[in-house]
Amino acid sequence: GNAFKLTYSTMFNPPAELHARFDAALQHFKQHGMGKDHAQWVNDQALMEGERFEVRSPINQDWLIGRFVQGSTAQVDQAVQAARAAFPAWAATPWPDRVALLRRAARLIEERVYTISAAVAVEVGKNRMESIGEVQETADLIDWYCDQMEQHDGFDRLLADDPLPNFRSHNRTVLKPYGVWALVAPFNFPFALSGGPVGPALIAGNTVVYKVSPETSLSGWLLLECLRDAGIPPGVVNFVTGGDATGRALVQHPQVAGVTFTGSHAVGMEVLRASVMGRYPRPCITEMGGKNATIVTRHADIERAALGIVRSSFGLSGQKCSACSRVYVEQEVATPLRERLVALTTALAVGDPTVAENWMGPVISRSAYERYDRLVEHLKAVGTIDAGGATLTAGALARGFFVAPTVARAPLDDVAWVDEHFLPIVLVGEVASLDEALRRANATDYGLTAGFYGSTEETARFHREIEAGVTYANRPQGATTGAWPGYQPFGGWKGSGSTGKAIGSFYYLQQYMREQSQTVVE
Ligand code: ALA
Repeated sequence: GNAFKLTYSTMFNPPAELHARFDAALQHFKQHGMGKDHAQWVNDQALMEGERFEVRSPINQDWLIGRFVQGSTAQVDQAVQAARAAFPAWAATPWPDRVALLRRAARLIEERVYTISAAVAVEVGKNRMESIGEVQETADLIDWYCDQMEQHDGFDRLLADDPLPNFRSHNRTVLKPYGVWALVAPFNFPFALSGGPVGPALIAGNTVVYKVSPETSLSGWLLLECLRDAGIPPGVVNFVTGGDATGRALVQHPQVAGVTFTGSHAVGMEVLRASVMGRYPRPCITEMGGKNATIVTRHADIERAALGIVRSSFGLSGQKCSACSRVYVEQEVATPLRERLVALTTALAVGDPTVAENWMGPVISRSAYERYDRLVEHLKAVGTIDAGGATLTAGALARGFFVAPTVARAPLDDVAWVDEHFLPIVLVGEVASLDEALRRANATDYGLTAGFYGSTEETARFHREIEAGVTYANRPQGATTGAWPGYQPFGGWKGSGSTGKAIGSFYYLQQYMREQSQTVVE
């Protein structure tokens, strides 16, 4: 087992042992874990048939992570049927037994934290602390939802008897599962954004079919291994692989009772529209990105603000839904803030993120790399690049998708302030007042995270007026990113999320259940 427990504070002060263990796991993964053929998993059996696709590392395209099956519509149907067949017994399993199985899965995730995070680091191209954080967060989220189930006694509670004297009635309310729950997870947190929702779906008594973004299929498979090895019964959790067609077949399957989708706004809205196309509506939890703003006033601690913005804009190469991509700074402090942003950005170590010294890795794919080029060209045409603004191709970097973290200016009405880019590019714009900053920050269809640096009074106003689900004031460790279960419930408003109920919050697990009131007259 582990000599120490990874916690929120460990993430900011990693002990030497963490590095040694990660390096050993990384070496092992590169020698023995890569290049294999992987199956889909349905009803406790491997599904190997079908066309295959290769997953290669964005760090180096010569690194073959593995080969996966392009899941067919028939295979997705097979997975949904397996989950349907397993549903009655799983729903009837006493909830404490379900909680015990999920806790066992969480312990397995912790035991394997280095093995899994080494694979995540190579597959996604994220640094070791981000990778370890993602895997540990998954175990913490599963524990959190187990705690919620226990604290609410399985959401089965007695109500008062009816007051009518002649017909004495006994009343209860029970939350019950829906049936088969479909889950689709994105490439940026393939482990946490599949394990995070698979956990509560199963705790609640649903059975599950899940898929992750094809670029990160191995991370999805490693979660399946933990669930399977924990002893979750056959058919209760099923795993399919593939691209958009496989995902569509899954979330639009008529016998799916509920959906959790994390990904782009466009696809999330498509999933939501499809959720009312059947004979009746079905619950749909969609987490859909952001265009997250940070506001810096003349009362701000500029050093903190610069640190927080750089960490949030360039962590995971700007590919977090929580990333900061817009900064509104009051004119009086715009120059000092920009100077600190440029200095910190230029000093960032960019390179193979599995190497301890490197902080920022590549972007995920050739298409992201090309989008970076196009956006930089656009910003050069309409504004100014203050730092970065080039793809990186020296030596081995040419084998991957490396780009320089970029600080830029553009007119405040430019389209670059509107669309989510999912790239390490942050726009800095000057505003005349906090009024203007808040108005501009809110003038977006998104509403996920927001950051603020200013006085206490201004902070109160920020909290009253900002339209975002996750807000941070005066935080150096990340202006808009780095939520941790139990500390920062994480969920989007407006076009960023369909329900406004946050991941790792008191209100999340209930979304996987429907209420039945039970009245019996004596
Ligand atoms: N949960 C991740 C963060 O807060 C996305 O940055």
